[in-house]
Amino acid sequence: MTVEQRQIEALTKELEPTSRWRPLRALARGGMGEVIVVRHADLGTEAVMKLLRPELTEVPELSQRLRVEARLLIGLSHENLVRVTDFGWTSTQRPFLVTELLHGESLGQRLQKDRVLTPDVALEIIRQVLDGLVAVHAAGIVHRDIKPDNLFLCAEREGQHGVRVKILDFGVAKVLTAAAKGRAGTFAPTATGMLLGTPSYLSPEQAKGERVDVRADLYSVGCLLYRIVAGAPPFVRARPVDVLAAHILDAPKPLSEACVQPIPEALSALVDRALRKVPGERFQTAEEMRAAIAEVARGGISRASAHTAARNTTASEPTIAARSAWRSPAIAPSAPAPSHELDAETTEVTPPPTDENEPTAWLPPRTPRAPELARPAVVGMPRRWLVVGVVLAFALGAVLAIVAWRAG
Ligand SMILES: Nc1ncnc2c1ncn2[C@@H]1O[C@H](COP(=O)(O)OP(=O)(O)O)[C@@H](O)[C@H]1O
Ligand SMILES: [Mg+2]
Repeated sequence: MTVEQRQIEALTKELEPTSRWRPLRALARGGMGEVIVVRHADLGTEAVMKLLRPELTEVPELSQRLRVEARLLIGLSHENLVRVTDFGWTSTQRPFLVTELLHGESLGQRLQKDRVLTPDVALEIIRQVLDGLVAVHAAGIVHRDIKPDNLFLCAEREGQHGVRVKILDFGVAKVLTAAAKGRAGTFAPTATGMLLGTPSYLSPEQAKGERVDVRADLYSVGCLLYRIVAGAPPFVRARPVDVLAAHILDAPKPLSEACVQPIPEALSALVDRALRKVPGERFQTAEEMRAAIAEVARGGISRASAHTAARNTTASEPTIAARSAWRSPAIAPSAPAPSHELDAETTEVTPPPTDENEPTAWLPPRTPRAPELARPAVVGMPRRWLVVGVVLAFALGAVLAIVAWRAG
């Protein structure tokens, strides 16, 4: 008997007393849970069960989170969201969640095989993710963990370009309070201060442990689009903590420079906006970002691109977006005021980037000191007195000479 068969047998025993679901095979094992294909003992239907790992049931917050995930999703029915059908507890008090069984592969698995996807496929995937997020956000929920492994590409070829995307894993999603619903609605980090989400796709505000709102998901979607088209997320660093710091401080390389394949400049500009450090400078709603995606798609991806020209003109320059996010009034007194309203929680000044690739861009602007004007003023003073002195001496000499001549 293999390890997996033993696990399935043990789980069967664990589920029998409290549920009609029977495990068939393991699908995935993440940091928090096990994902298993199950069959209903009476109905014969197959589904996917997500169980909290046994050692984590002691952490009340985690058990609670799976229940929250179930409650969030049960009320949402959308073609781009995985459908939740059941929730329960095993005989050992492990919470589980049951969702529809999807056929296909996660976007993460797809990107492991095909490192990059074409811009038109990428835009279609992102459009569907945003369709799903429109519904999620309308319900007052922020997903907080949009990344390739949490998106599923269904095998059914219904959508354009043969993709049908479903958002999975609302394990770290959070509901905004009724009063805080809407774009401005925010919520605090978890009570335990646990950092949630995946560093490569995490928004700067999540990286800082600050309050987040729907715009954090839109930043993650920007990172996702970058990853799909460029083959790597915007910030690749040796350690996760460096990735977090980069989200807060570093300018992403413009997409047009990071891509090997040609892309329209409008796509690079869209990603640039999605990745702004200050939430108020990003797309404000999933609808707004979806409209921008549609606009780029209409512009004709195949007719790309100003990409080479962009590479020549923007090389080694941080993005305008990142610049305005970093600039402090102290070092850039004449910087134009941003055209958006800054959020109260994001008005702090962050230090300039430490990335060695772009240090010179962050030298404080030179103050016009006009030394050329000052120098004659300072150096000219003794000269003028000298001239005055010589004239006076001549005048005095002339007067004395006249007096002496008359007297003589
Ligand atoms: N309903 C489903 N149908 C098919 N595969 C799924 C389903 N849900 C999850 N998976 C697979 O399991 C993986 C992990 O699921 P996820 O819900 O993200 O749990 P985790 O909390 O472990 O990240 C996904 O990346 C996907 O490959
Ligand atoms: Mg996941």
